[in-house]
Amino acid sequence: MKGHLAAKPVKKANSNHFLSDVISISDFSRQTIELVLTQAAKLEKMPREKKAKILQNKLVATLFLEPSTRTRLSFESAAQNLGAKVVSLSEPQTSSLSKGESFSDTIKMANGYADIIVVRHSFDGAARRAAEVCTKPIVNAGDGANQHPSQTLLDLYTIYKEFGKIDGLKIMMAGDLKYGRTVHSLMYALSHFKDVTVYLYSPVGLEMPKYIIEETKNLKIHQTNNLEKFIPNVDIIYATRIQKERFPDELEYQKVKNAYVITNELISKAKKGVKIMHPLPRITEIAQEVDSTPAALYFTQAANGIPVREAILSLLQDVKK
Ligand code: NCD
Repeated sequence: MKGHLAAKPVKKANSNHFLSDVISISDFSRQTIELVLTQAAKLEKMPREKKAKILQNKLVATLFLEPSTRTRLSFESAAQNLGAKVVSLSEPQTSSLSKGESFSDTIKMANGYADIIVVRHSFDGAARRAAEVCTKPIVNAGDGANQHPSQTLLDLYTIYKEFGKIDGLKIMMAGDLKYGRTVHSLMYALSHFKDVTVYLYSPVGLEMPKYIIEETKNLKIHQTNNLEKFIPNVDIIYATRIQKERFPDELEYQKVKNAYVITNELISKAKKGVKIMHPLPRITEIAQEVDSTPAALYFTQAANGIPVREAILSLLQDVKK
């Protein structure tokens, strides 16, 4: 790892300084963010057998009431790498939720079974609600268009590994900035760092919510509906999918679904060494030709989900609520 984090020793896996739930990146200080990244770097180097003792005899429940590939698989892999057992709900239609059981009741049930509960839900605020009715740590794996804190932590880890720093970087967020929860969380996280410039490109109507811009005043923010305008300035382009499932009107989605594509030609206008990130899944917003270029960082980024989610789970064990 290039960054200064690699040099810092981690005192304890179950640090008392950690949060009791991972609900919103707004609950994190820079210090707490760095604790996770340092722990991830440490776990990445740890021998498998040693790592498998960290959550031995613990049970992690993953309740995914909205579709997921990477987040669920990487949380479950991370839990198992740490020696935990995993129980999982990924098809709500096969659970009692389909019989009319409330979300709160489902969470209370999981509270009686598991030591840590990872939850994804289509409603903004669902994870916060879960944390209120639950005595075990809750991890928000995405709540509607609101927040996706574990994604942001792995995004930051990826940036640290690649650039050796976050301070001073110039990052373009592109795509659906209105409904994209990953970019919402990323804005709050970046605002803890120094001298970060954020260029916000979105199709008309999908701009970053005003309240987020107001709450992240520490960032230098430039907004545009013209993709090419700031391309030569940036170190990173963080692309996102247009969030089809969050549009109240399908026709509105149809109008913007192919609004932008990152191609090799576009990248040729950027700084040398520019990196393209994406939380995935990608639909059409990054051309496949980009995948084999040095700019493509998105699959490495996805792989970083494992050490970062291991770090989150290991720091959450034994927290007192
Ligand atoms: C993101 C999500 O679920 O918000 N995916 C992910 O977790 N990697 C992004 C998306 O679905 O577009």
